[in-house]
Amino acid sequence: MMRKIDCAILVLALAFAWLGASAQQKADVAKPKKISPDLFGIFFEDLSYAADGGLYAELVQNRSFEYSPADNRDWNSMTAWRYETDGFGYGTISVETAAPVHPNNPHYILLDIQDEGQKGVGLENSGFDGIPVKAGKNYNFSVFLNALSGRSLPVKVALIDRKGKELCSSSFTTANKGWKKYAEQIHVNFDNDSAKLVLLIKAKGKVGIDMVSLFPEETFKNHKNGLRADLAQVIADIKPKFMRFPGGCLTHGDGIANIYRWKNTIGPVEQRVEQRNIWNYHQSVGLGYFEYFQFCEDIGAKPVPVLAAGVSCQNSGGTWKIGGTGQKGIPMEEMSAYVQDVLDLIEYANGPATSTWGAKRAAAGHPAPFNLEYLGIGNEDKITGVFEERFRMIYDAVHKAHPEIKIIGTVGPSPNGEDFEKGWKLADQLSVGIVDEHYYEKPQWFLKNTARYDSYNRLRSKVYIGEYASWGNTLFNALAEAVYMTNLERNGDVVRMASYAPLIARIGHTSWNPNLIYFNGTKVFPTVNYYVQQQFAANSGNEYLPGMIKLKGEKTAIDTTAGTSVVRDAATGDIILKIANAGNTELSGEADLSKISQLPKSATLTVITGNPEVKNSADNPQAILPQSSVIKLQKKWAFTVPAYSLTVVRISSANAKKSK
Ligand code: AHR
Repeated sequence: MMRKIDCAILVLALAFAWLGASAQQKADVAKPKKISPDLFGIFFEDLSYAADGGLYAELVQNRSFEYSPADNRDWNSMTAWRYETDGFGYGTISVETAAPVHPNNPHYILLDIQDEGQKGVGLENSGFDGIPVKAGKNYNFSVFLNALSGRSLPVKVALIDRKGKELCSSSFTTANKGWKKYAEQIHVNFDNDSAKLVLLIKAKGKVGIDMVSLFPEETFKNHKNGLRADLAQVIADIKPKFMRFPGGCLTHGDGIANIYRWKNTIGPVEQRVEQRNIWNYHQSVGLGYFEYFQFCEDIGAKPVPVLAAGVSCQNSGGTWKIGGTGQKGIPMEEMSAYVQDVLDLIEYANGPATSTWGAKRAAAGHPAPFNLEYLGIGNEDKITGVFEERFRMIYDAVHKAHPEIKIIGTVGPSPNGEDFEKGWKLADQLSVGIVDEHYYEKPQWFLKNTARYDSYNRLRSKVYIGEYASWGNTLFNALAEAVYMTNLERNGDVVRMASYAPLIARIGHTSWNPNLIYFNGTKVFPTVNYYVQQQFAANSGNEYLPGMIKLKGEKTAIDTTAGTSVVRDAATGDIILKIANAGNTELSGEADLSKISQLPKSATLTVITGNPEVKNSADNPQAILPQSSVIKLQKKWAFTVPAYSLTVVRISSANAKKSK
């Protein structure tokens, strides 16, 4: 997504000569400071159709007939489905729960076909705003059927267009009786953004139908039960150091029964326990803990699962509207089982394949551990006695059994206030390693608070900014975040991690705005904020090099509209300079590169700039893109960066070797 430009926007000028250099790319500039190697990551929440209808590649909506009015007032088992009798067939259709495929997945459709008519009788699914298919691609269809009449039945599966025209089909016959999974591969030789899937039984008889599924053969890294390749790739391109999942509010849930239970989300998909999504839709949990861990591994991000601290969301039942608290604690007599679930998660991720939970990971196809290092307990909970009691139980048990795990506590939903203070107090008492701060604020807030972490006591808990964003997707918003992020790098000794939120949202189904990435059924639209996040994550380091960039005039490294930072990445030896300018005038300054020994002759320069009020949208997705070019390097150089811009210069150690 990078465009090449000439680098006229950055004027580099030779200043004065360097006095001497030593070891290659050693950052022996003024007192380098060790900073977190995991600073910039992502936070995935199943919000705004981020999982089902989003990253999870399943194309059939409500495949297991488990939708219900509890998910959404207007929903039931037949949502996204249509009873298909267009060929003059008839019979009865009912939603049944007796003798299902698996007790965890109770609902299925029973067809009693009295006359199959000209075409058969069956079901039609409209997918998530239609089923997008592409010419030349294969699609994997599967279904669980139970031929209850005791004889084999002919079945046809087809894709049709919006007008009902058949586009392609495949046929098979069922066994005589009993639930059985049937799978067919469908080759498609046409493009259609809004096809429908039809399943027709072409004979008289009774048949149970469940788990009707259609996946593109090509998923991200081609895993079975995998993820949507284009969307996953855009996320991977951020190069996040970690991924927090499966949510914020989703994790602690709408009431105790809705708390996200990781054990419900692993194993064969037809045996997982589906549930209502707190954001008023449904979780098939087809994208469950195994898939989350696998995705983290695939994109090189450390997994950061967050589990409820034994309490539900304080806004459960919409109680925030009446000013009360809906926070409920898991009954104390059930807490030891809950604590055990938390410990079991660590075994699932890290235990040997011979351990009870490690064996389940191995059975899913991953005998090697997932190397869990971080674990979040709680999500911006109200810090009450009920919370504290349960948090302590979980914290103590994990800390005792797994001192190697870095526990992340929670300090409320705001950058200050009662829960923030109480959360920090509790963290002090327990010496919690890291606490999770959240803030959604105006861009001006980010610009005014660039010095926030300068005064943080380095002996207290470290900070994970688990959720933050300025309210908007314009370039100005993104630059306010960029300025702030240069200051996070400067404070990378106390700020261990940071993740913009929320990550992805399906257009037409957003429960929260702004988001980092928007998408529909066929396209992905990264925002300008996305490109800023990408620049920081892909160009992060583990050493902060102070004093290398001097801005002209009044501007300083912690100016409210400008931010600069220089980091060195030990893994590559590269040095990265960032100059963020959220101001309305050009910014000039000088960078002293003289102490970089074996300075290469050139570096990569990337600039994000444009009209501060512009955003990328579905209509104009490329309004603002990073623009890259190669620049010549000098030991000391003067620069001028445009108003409203982020400039990143990556000085590659590999280039230094080549320039030798
Ligand atoms: O990111 C959206 C929501 O914001 C999260 O679910 C919650 O933790 C926060 O309030």
